[in-house]
Amino acid sequence: MKNRRDFLKTACKPVVLATLGIPLIEACSTDEETEMNSNSVDNDQTAQNNNSSKLEINLDDDRFKDLKQVSGWLNFTSENILLVRISDDEIRVFDNACPHQGARNRWSFDGSNFTCSNHGNSYAANCSGSLRCYEATLNGNILTVDFS
Ligand code: FES
Repeated sequence: MKNRRDFLKTACKPVVLATLGIPLIEACSTDEETEMNSNSVDNDQTAQNNNSSKLEINLDDDRFKDLKQVSGWLNFTSENILLVRISDDEIRVFDNACPHQGARNRWSFDGSNFTCSNHGNSYAANCSGSLRCYEATLNGNILTVDFS
């Protein structure tokens, strides 16, 4: 009896329903929701919302150190944005939702294109493609993102 109880606690819902004879098509894995790449930042203690449409990020925080060099990038998951350093005075900001099917945490960057490993699609980091781009201004080490 204990083994059956343990099984029911640990098995995913579709497996339990299938065991009981109830067909259901659903993936058991939640890897996409929990997997984050090494360039992910998910805590926004240094980011502040001045109002509902703007976000200020203090780049002095060590978690944003990848943005110090040109082509450095990161996925700021708690704000759902991708950031990439274009030059000393420009950081571009994109929505981290893949235009294909919306995956937010499967990104890599090769210096000019973001690639979503979910289905392998690539998007130029130039604010003219399908990856949604936000206006961002850099003043010293303060990056202000305008979501309006
Ligand atoms: S969801 Fe990104 S390529 Fe399909």
